Amino acid sequence: GLQGAPNIFWHGSQVSAELRSRQAGQRAATVWLTGLSGAGKSTLASALEGRLVGAGHMAYVLDGDNLRHHLNRDLGFSPADRQENIRRSAEVARIMNDAGLFVICAFISPLRQDREMARQIIGADNFLETHVSTSAEVCEARDPKGLYQKARAGLIPQFTGISAPYEAPLEPALKLDTGALPLDACCERLYQQLSRRFL
Ligand code: PPS
Repeated sequence: GLQGAPNIFWHGSQVSAELRSRQAGQRAATVWLTGLSGAGKSTLASALEGRLVGAGHMAYVLDGDNLRHHLNRDLGFSPADRQENIRRSAEVARIMNDAGLFVICAFISPLRQDREMARQIIGADNFLETHVSTSAEVCEARDPKGLYQKARAGLIPQFTGISAPYEAPLEPALKLDTGALPLDACCERLYQQLSRRFL
């Protein structure tokens, strides 16, 4: 079996990655959006998904908030739980890429080492790290879910940017500030970046 997994075996596939991507008409990849709560990750992910599907591609959003309702419902916001959240979600993205789909991941993913893990799981060649770099001030002013207000009042422990760290990427493929650039412009820049490498 595989390391650390006694009595577990690996079954190969008759269908190569090349055949899948030829049939899908695209080389699958994962766009990884990282940024503070309220930075615009989910909105941007959804806009890019619409743009890709509208252009005839197959794309799917994996969103932290959504996956935490089901697959990751047992996880909280401790560093260990966030790491497991990223690990599982990256594994899902990898499988979906293998199936030929574009994946757009929207997770705060605040720690560099966890994003590195995601990059390794998904494969560096298929991984487009994008920093949704909207400032903490703008995110807190937007406060779309009222979470910053709650966190300031001490009602949410370990809230990213208030009482838990956010480590900005050092060399993201792309940096988009939704406080400075309109949503469609951000989406367009992301689409251009993606099409240069994958479409
Ligand atoms: S992480 O850090 O990558 O595991 O987080 P993620 O899976 O993206 O989930 C972030 C959403 O969870 C809500 N929420 C919190 N965020 C940060 N810190 C704490 N303590 C917290 N508690 C709940 C919040 O709605 C985040 O959604 P977004 O879309 O980022 O605003």
